[in-house]
Amino acid sequence: MADGAHKNSATFTYDGKTIDLPVIAGSVGPDVVDIRKLYAQTGMFTYDPGFTSTAACESAITYIDGDKGELLYRGYPIDQLAEKSHYLEVCYLLLYAELPTAAQLEDFEARVTRHTMLHEQMVNFYRGFRRDAHPMAVVCGVVGAMSAFYHDSTDINDPWQREVASIRMIAKLPTIAAWAYKYSIGQPFVYPRNDLDYAANFLHMCFATPCEEYVVDPILSRAMDRIFTLHADHEQNASTSTVRLAGSSQANPFACIAAGVACLWGPAHGGANEAALAMLREIGAPERIPEFIARAKDKDDPFRLMGFGHRVYKNFDPRAKVMKQSADEVLGLLGIENNPTLQVAKELEKIALEDSYFVDRKLYPNVDFYSGIILDAIGFPTSMFTAIFALSRTVGWIAQWKEMIEDPEGRIGRPRQLYTGAPSRDYSDVETR
Ligand code: CMC
Repeated sequence: MADGAHKNSATFTYDGKTIDLPVIAGSVGPDVVDIRKLYAQTGMFTYDPGFTSTAACESAITYIDGDKGELLYRGYPIDQLAEKSHYLEVCYLLLYAELPTAAQLEDFEARVTRHTMLHEQMVNFYRGFRRDAHPMAVVCGVVGAMSAFYHDSTDINDPWQREVASIRMIAKLPTIAAWAYKYSIGQPFVYPRNDLDYAANFLHMCFATPCEEYVVDPILSRAMDRIFTLHADHEQNASTSTVRLAGSSQANPFACIAAGVACLWGPAHGGANEAALAMLREIGAPERIPEFIARAKDKDDPFRLMGFGHRVYKNFDPRAKVMKQSADEVLGLLGIENNPTLQVAKELEKIALEDSYFVDRKLYPNVDFYSGIILDAIGFPTSMFTAIFALSRTVGWIAQWKEMIEDPEGRIGRPRQLYTGAPSRDYSDVETR
């Protein structure tokens, strides 16, 4: 991959020594100071826990402007894609950098659709899990296990194998997630239906049973498709960085994506939609909101308002705007605008948007605040929320992984540290300690 344009240089002075550090400009967004030679020239590292000021890679996939509340996939604003496009077209865009022609889209959809079934032996693999296993534990395990089932697409140096692995994961993740759900509730697996679109097929695999046909409502499948689209990629977040770091060791693609799934699980990241709905239920009634707002402000209490705040969006989360609209549509269709959880959500949103603690810290409802409400209304248990996020994000992880693998300058990721432990000392025998 070519470097961004060299623009200028910054000077760094320490201990009487000054060096020039190149400044590189991207296509949009802040310039970066190239510190790759800093250690060689000064013997110093930079210190940036949480990577708040560090660009760990060059990427042309997704751009976020947190202050403007802007999210672009390959340059296209997320609200336009959510309104006019659909998930598989967005997958194509993320993977291949341009919107497809009609023929390209037809071919891509056919390729994905032909890979939706899991190897039948994987059914035995599912049966090894405890019957009440959390769907994320199952998804993480099954995605990792794909490397044991699909040997013919694990060679990262073969572009054809990389392509097949990518299509397999995008195609199979809905089946893997739906089966994790079916397994957790003790129902038979429902096989994919290739006459349904991506989102409708997922809903069908989750809610149909052999005893009863499940007719997918187009409003619900559209809402599902939007959830997939809005979560498809999000630049260098924790799980994507995990996938890149795992991939930098040249691990196989299934192992890398499984690493991403594991990272996504945490409540500060993909687990937030589950945590947000659990919080709304715990609050239970609008009268109890002040108590929880007080706890969120109390620095001695670890409680945070789940579904509020974002590391990058400090104005508003553009995905939350679309998701809020979708939530209104779905709840209207299902006629459940007055359910107690929703009442609490609406009231909490209102109070938090007016309270100076949240306003001053720019803590706005994020995408997970609304996605949890929609998924609950569709009929998913909270334990499935993060698994659905994982299936949506798979394409983003894959696009980022491919970009990294195809970068000729790629090298293993290896952060440094500020060591604060004991200096070198001699071992003492146990009798003398
Ligand atoms: N409730 C109450 N206070 C909060 C919250 C919250 N949800 N989020 C941040 N703060 C406070 C925090 O205590 C700190 O206050 P002070 O300056 O007085 O010490 C200030 O706001 C800045 O917080 P921070 O921890 O430095 O912010 P961060 O950028 O490191 O954290 C975050 C971002 C998303 C982890 C955090 O806002 C959070 O824990 N939110 C709840 C979990 C959540 O909804 N996560 C989903 C994120 S969206 C999905 C995704 O893209 O992964």
